[in-house]
Amino acid sequence: MSKRDILFVFSNMRLYEARNVVFSFAQNLIWRRKLIKFIEGKLLDVATGPCIIPSLYNGSSIGLDISLNMLKSKKCRILKVVGDAENLPFHDSSFDTVSIAFGLRNVPDKVRAIEEFYRVLKPNGKLLILEMKIEKGILGIPNFIYSLFMIFFSPFLFGSLRDYIYLFKSMLEFPDDDEILAYMKDAGFKSVGVIRFYLGPTRLFIGYKRCME
Ligand SMILES: C[S@@+](CC[C@H](N)C(=O)[O-])C[C@H]1O[C@@H](n2cnc3c(N)ncnc32)[C@H](O)[C@@H]1O
Repeated sequence: MSKRDILFVFSNMRLYEARNVVFSFAQNLIWRRKLIKFIEGKLLDVATGPCIIPSLYNGSSIGLDISLNMLKSKKCRILKVVGDAENLPFHDSSFDTVSIAFGLRNVPDKVRAIEEFYRVLKPNGKLLILEMKIEKGILGIPNFIYSLFMIFFSPFLFGSLRDYIYLFKSMLEFPDDDEILAYMKDAGFKSVGVIRFYLGPTRLFIGYKRCME
């Protein structure tokens, strides 16, 4: 799907938060809260959507999203910016933490986005990527069955089959953990690692910008 089509999917998404609750079996806030624990200092939340991450975090934050409609979908008192993860409209070394929750799989050029996250972080700043991936092979069977449930039942509950096929494919096609960790290292991040939540599809990648450039 092109970036324009992806923008269309999110700009027309209704009841986003209700869907999150139903299709994560109410785990969505638990996963986001795990990410929040790692945030320090001034935060940039990329692909912020309805600003759930910034509104759970008590410190100073900016939310960026490519879709104006997603940014408008909920009122929260933070600075919101319309922009693309691949070309962040911020100066170098501006933030202590950059987070992206369930957003990176929608960005076509993930390498470029991770390089941008590195650029806007201050030295020693932290990158947090929360993402879902449907495993292939035997480990992926529970996730795969779950995804079929999501695809076939979601249109009856809330919306369009096309959008959910897109969301399913984006989870299936998201790179393996090792590939994401390699992208982070190549961008310059140190101490990179990943935390898997149970055997499920959700994981949190963490990396730190080096002190000396
Ligand atoms: C699944 S939502 C996640 C929203 C939010 N982070 C959350 O935790 O609920 C994905 C978001 O990514 C945004 N998005 C997609 N492509 C993007 C891009 N290239 N740059 C910035 N945001 C993007 C969409 O508009 C959408 O709001």
